[in-house]
Amino acid sequence: MNSFLDFLSNISWWGWVLISLAIVAIRDVFFQKKHTISHNYPILGHLRYLMESIGPEMRQYFVANNREELPFNRIERSWIYASAKKENNYEGFGTDRDIYQHQHIFINNAMMPYNPPENHPNKADKTFLPCAKVMGEFHKRRKPFRPASVINVSAMSFGSLSAKAIESLNKGVKIAGAYHNTGEGGLSPHHSHGGDVIFHFGTGYFGVRDEHGGFSMDKMIKLVESNPFIRAIEVKLSQGAKPGKGGVLPGAKITKEISEIRGVPVGKDVLSPPNHKAFTNIPEMVDFIEKIAEATGLPVGIKAAIGKLEQWEELADIMITTGKGPDFITVDGGEGGTGAAPPSFADHVSLPWVYGFSDLYKLFKNKGLSERLVFIGSGKLGFPAKAAMAFAMGADCINVAREAMMSIGCIQAQVCHTNRCPSGVATQNKWLQSGIDPTLKSERLAQYFKTFRKELIEITHASGYEHPCQFTMSDIEMNIDDHSLSNKLHSTFSYEKTTVPFLGMQNLKDCLYLGNHPKSQLKN
Ligand SMILES: Cc1cc2nc3c(=O)[nH]c(=O)nc-3n(C[C@H](O)[C@H](O)[C@H](O)COP(=O)(O)O)c2cc1C
Repeated sequence: MNSFLDFLSNISWWGWVLISLAIVAIRDVFFQKKHTISHNYPILGHLRYLMESIGPEMRQYFVANNREELPFNRIERSWIYASAKKENNYEGFGTDRDIYQHQHIFINNAMMPYNPPENHPNKADKTFLPCAKVMGEFHKRRKPFRPASVINVSAMSFGSLSAKAIESLNKGVKIAGAYHNTGEGGLSPHHSHGGDVIFHFGTGYFGVRDEHGGFSMDKMIKLVESNPFIRAIEVKLSQGAKPGKGGVLPGAKITKEISEIRGVPVGKDVLSPPNHKAFTNIPEMVDFIEKIAEATGLPVGIKAAIGKLEQWEELADIMITTGKGPDFITVDGGEGGTGAAPPSFADHVSLPWVYGFSDLYKLFKNKGLSERLVFIGSGKLGFPAKAAMAFAMGADCINVAREAMMSIGCIQAQVCHTNRCPSGVATQNKWLQSGIDPTLKSERLAQYFKTFRKELIEITHASGYEHPCQFTMSDIEMNIDDHSLSNKLHSTFSYEKTTVPFLGMQNLKDCLYLGNHPKSQLKN
C-alpha cells in the first residue's frame, strides 16, 4: 500500500494532467454517446462547447461594434447606464451613426427654438413632463388618471423579475412621478412602496383569480379598494414577443409567496391559456371592460400587439355605437421583450411598433375615436428621439420594460428564461438578487426617467414646441434612401394625427387627476 502511495506521490504535475486527459479521452470515445463531436475528436471536441458557451460574452465585450448588437446596442445601453447614474451621457466629435441609413429618423428643428417664459413649470423643474391626456375622462370614470410622467415602467411581473428588482422599480417610479405596471403576476408587496400602479392581468387572472382559474370581480374590487395607489387597470390581450401564446408557470417556481400573490396552489403547474375565459368576442370584451370600470371607478385599458385589423375595426364600431370601450390602448411592438418566448414567435408573430401602431392609430383616427383614447406605446421606445417619433405618430405615453431593467443593472445577458440572471434582476435566486440595493437602484431608475424627460423636452423645444404632444407627422422624417426619397411620416404612413388639446404645461400641472401629485386627492 505504501509503495503504491509513494508511486502516486512521485507522479509530476504534468503526469497528472496527462492522466486526466487520458480519462476524458476514454470517456469521450467509449462511454458517452450524446456528443458526436467529442466522440470523433476526443478532448479537442470540448473546446468547441466551451467556445460556444462563452461566444456571446466574447462578442459583446471584444468583437461587436458600438451599433451592432440587438436588442439594444452598446451605445443605447451606455446611454441608459450613464443617464441612470447621472454621468456624462454626451458623445464627442459628432455622431458615429450613418445618418443616411435606411429608416434613420430625423426631427425637423425650428429656426428658433421654443423659449419657455420665466414662470414656466419647466424653469423650476426641467424634467416635469406629464401626459397631455387624462385616462378615463371621455367615459367619465369616477377616478380619472393623468400619468404624471410620459415615460413609465411597462408590464413585468413579480416572478419574471426578482422581488428586489420590483421593489427598486416601484420606489423609482415614486421618486420620478411615473407609474409602475404590475405585469401578469398580480400585485405583490414589492409593488406597494408608494408609486402609482397600473394593475395588469392576462388570461391567468393572477391576483384576481377565482377557484376555477376564471376572473373574480369580488377580488378585483377588494384589491382596488385596499390599494388606492392602483390608478388604472390593463387587460392584456397579447404582447409583442408572443401574441396568442399562452404560458405555463412551473410548479417548482410557485413558492408560498408567489402562490399567495397569484392566487394559485403551491408547487402545482399553472396554465395561462392563449384565450380569456371572461369574454369570447369583442362585444363581450367591451362589456367586461365597462363592468370593471363601473365596479372600481378606475380607467380600464387593453394591451395588445397588432397584426390583423378586422377585430379592431369591430371594436371601433362598437365604441362609436355604444359610447363605451377602453380608456387606453397600449400598443406593443413585435420587437418587445419577454421573460421567455419561442424564437419563432418573438421573431415573426405581430408587427414591429411603427407598422402596428400606425395601422391601429389610423383606424381609430379615421373613425373619429383618437381623442377618446390615451395611446401608450412600448417596443424599444425608451430613447428621447424615438419617443419624439412615437408622439408625432399619436402616442401619448411610453412604457419601457428592458430599458427600465437596464437602468437598475441588467446587462442584457439574455438569460431571463433560465432563472440565472447574473444581475439579479430577472431571477428568483436569492443569492443572485442579494447584490441589488433597492435604495440605490430606485434612484437609478428615477434618474434615467428624469434624464429621458429632460432630453425629450429639449428636443421638443428645439422643434419649436412646449410639449411633445404637439409633434405632428410632418415634424419627423424617416430615411427611405437618399434625401429626395426621405419621406415625412404622414406620407409614409398615410395619416396625420389628431391634434391633442393642450393648454400649456401649467394647465397639466394644475390638473386634479395628476398622478403622484399632492393635488390629486381622489374622490371615491
Ligand atoms: C422580463 C419581462 C417580463 C415581461 N412580462 C410581461 C407581462 O407580464 N405582461 C405583458 O403584457 N408584457 C410583459 N413584458 C413585455 C413588456 O411589458 C413590454 O411590452 C415589451 O418588453 C416592450 O418594451 P421594451 O422594448 O421597452 O422592453 C415583459 C417583458 C420583459 C422583458
